[in-house]
Amino acid sequence: PEDIRVYEFAEACGKSPAEVIKVLFSLGMMVTKNDFLKQDELEILGEEFGIEVTVKDALEDVNYVESYEGEEVDTGSFITRPPVVTIMGHVDHGKTSLLDKIRSSKVASGEAGGITQHINSYTVVKNGQKITFVDTPGHEAFSAMRTRGANVTDIIIIVVAADDGVKAQTEEVISHAKASGCPIIVAMNKMDKESANPDMVKAQMAERNLTPIDWGGDIEFIGVSARTGEGVEDLLENILIQAELLDLKADPTAKAKATVIEASLEKGRGPVANVIVQNGTLRVGDNIVCDTTFGRVKAITNDMGEIVKELGLSETGTVLGLNDVPTTGSSLISMDTEKEVRDIANTRAEHARAKELSKSTKVSLEEMSGLI
Ligand code: GTP
Ligand code: MG
Repeated sequence: PEDIRVYEFAEACGKSPAEVIKVLFSLGMMVTKNDFLKQDELEILGEEFGIEVTVKDALEDVNYVESYEGEEVDTGSFITRPPVVTIMGHVDHGKTSLLDKIRSSKVASGEAGGITQHINSYTVVKNGQKITFVDTPGHEAFSAMRTRGANVTDIIIIVVAADDGVKAQTEEVISHAKASGCPIIVAMNKMDKESANPDMVKAQMAERNLTPIDWGGDIEFIGVSARTGEGVEDLLENILIQAELLDLKADPTAKAKATVIEASLEKGRGPVANVIVQNGTLRVGDNIVCDTTFGRVKAITNDMGEIVKELGLSETGTVLGLNDVPTTGSSLISMDTEKEVRDIANTRAEHARAKELSKSTKVSLEEMSGLI
């Protein structure tokens, strides 16, 4: 991140250095006008002054910084990584069934009420190439999970049942997909049904600015059936073509960086985090930090529930060993020493507390001014 001094910050937001110093002082942070502001101080100031301060998390780039810092840039260790593909769509339009067909398993029929209530992720191999899929629930109650799904993904597949057309959660998913900037593929499912009407789906999607290629637009529409398997090969081939265009690269030799797509406390296992590896390789024994939690990787299970020693690029699995349940969507990062991960987690926890405190200080000041 850019280093900025107190007086520079004050100047940039039209305040006096004294005002800046006073705000931090009220939170127990002592600075003088020539001091550099730390990330947490910047965030607090942004909140206090009601301005937007974008702070780049130094850790975000830790792997890249390490790879690029040296004299020579070792791009040799960057390789093509598998795409992460998120499947989204309205409830019961067949997302899980489609993924089942792709993996040839039977998850949908084993789900409570046939409704997906978690984010699930699986890696499949097609023509020797891996693809990681993220299955999200379509139920209206799970909007947050769909947002998270949109955040980790490279490509979004919008599933629309061809007999049912665009529905409320389809609309929601369209806006997530557009906001993510990822390439979109529309899978028109349930084509085996007599009432399937792909032209209706195309027209409804085109109205929402997702125009099929054969109608002069740039979105691939593929008719599929999770029941018969029709179109599934076509869909997979299209995913691989999109992935190639994206030219996804990462460094398997870097320290691991993964995204938590779900986390929970499991009886007898402790905090468990379901992750997708974005860079590097995550190994048993790694020191890891994940927002305010930290620990050492005790065990990893892959998407088949098998115990493995490591997760590679774009692979997905569950990780045991954090000292608490991390927030979903956060980055899990491995570092050299236990001290590093502990320090970072503690600093973040302090920062979170200061943020809370700054909120309550603000409230009490407002209350006070109301009394005067
Ligand atoms: P949520 O996770 O609840 O959002 O639903 P989902 O989109 O994952 O749908 P799911 O795969 O659970 O399928 C819903 C219902 O549609 C099930 O009864 C499936 O058997 C049925 N279904 C899914 N795909 C097809 C298909 O291609 N053809 C037919 N005929 N039925 C399908
Ligand atoms: Mg489902």
